[in-house]
Amino acid sequence: MHEAPSQASQSTARGQTARATAILVTGAGGEMGHDLIRAIARSEENVAIVGFDLRPLDRNVAQYCAETVVGDVQNLELLQSITDRYSFGRIYHLAAMLSSSAERAPGRAYDVNVGGTMNLLRLAVDERDATGRSPMVLFPSTIAVYGHPTLEHKASAGPVQEHEHLEPRTMYGCNKLAAEHLGRYYTDHHRQFDEGPTGSVDFRAIRFPGLISAETLPTGGTTDYGPEMLHAAARNQVYDCFVREDSRLPFMTMPEAIESIVRISSAPRSALTRSAYNVRSFAPSAAEIHQALRAHYPALTVGFKPNPGRQMIVDGWPGDTDDRAARADWGWSPAHTLDSALESYLIPGLKAHYGNA
Ligand code: SER
Repeated sequence: MHEAPSQASQSTARGQTARATAILVTGAGGEMGHDLIRAIARSEENVAIVGFDLRPLDRNVAQYCAETVVGDVQNLELLQSITDRYSFGRIYHLAAMLSSSAERAPGRAYDVNVGGTMNLLRLAVDERDATGRSPMVLFPSTIAVYGHPTLEHKASAGPVQEHEHLEPRTMYGCNKLAAEHLGRYYTDHHRQFDEGPTGSVDFRAIRFPGLISAETLPTGGTTDYGPEMLHAAARNQVYDCFVREDSRLPFMTMPEAIESIVRISSAPRSALTRSAYNVRSFAPSAAEIHQALRAHYPALTVGFKPNPGRQMIVDGWPGDTDDRAARADWGWSPAHTLDSALESYLIPGLKAHYGNA
């Protein structure tokens, strides 16, 4: 449990009450929020965390937070009311609708994914105006910002670099790319018209591949077949995979994703040559995931029953990404191949989680 945050902070432009220094995490109850909050709490003992989510946080996460707030990132007033009490030097804006859900409700996805991000950027600008310091805004972006028009194009493109093939074919990809641009604007160009570029925010985005956790399952994503197949195997269930066997995407484990966020947060701004970076660890086809799992769960049965909509999304996303910029600028380095991820993290984690050790 965290100590109550110190009240020894500055008076603000907004009011004269002292505000406690804290870190804000939106989407705190999601897969990534869970693990990130635990990691921050372990590595930065005296920091106060405010967890923000649509639903009340479960105890596993709430116990690490100085305060939890239930609400929607579309609600700017609610977000602003939190900054009456806290001064946020760092914001992890994780709340989002994932790709399959976004495709079913594009208007709402825009409101949440772009409108919500805009609200957090506004909050960061207010903070800069009140304190003179630019808050860091960490943003999980995605391979969905890329778009291949055909399977042939995807196959011939190879691992994509950050500036290539930026023609997203999903609402989620359009939203995340727009949000990346907004973050870059507020970092490099804000107030350029009157003052010359001043930069009010220190925005840093990581374009994540599919994420696989031994403890949790994603909801509403399209890379979900990876973690779903794994968890079905651990539960002795038959799995109907919603993409073809030859479908290929990059993936990484959740601890690697958290490590990458921690690492980019610690890098000096001067080391960063771009506002959004690729990371990835392995890039198997769905059949290769199945095969690797069979080494651990020989009885695993997977039926490949492609869902046309979700298959279309996966076919448009890159088969792999090029992570050289992240390696060069802030020391990113993947910890795993698929086999080592299974052996040293996923299988032991699943056994502990499902109690069949
Ligand atoms: N995992 C995300 C999704 O499938 C992609 O970044 O929506």
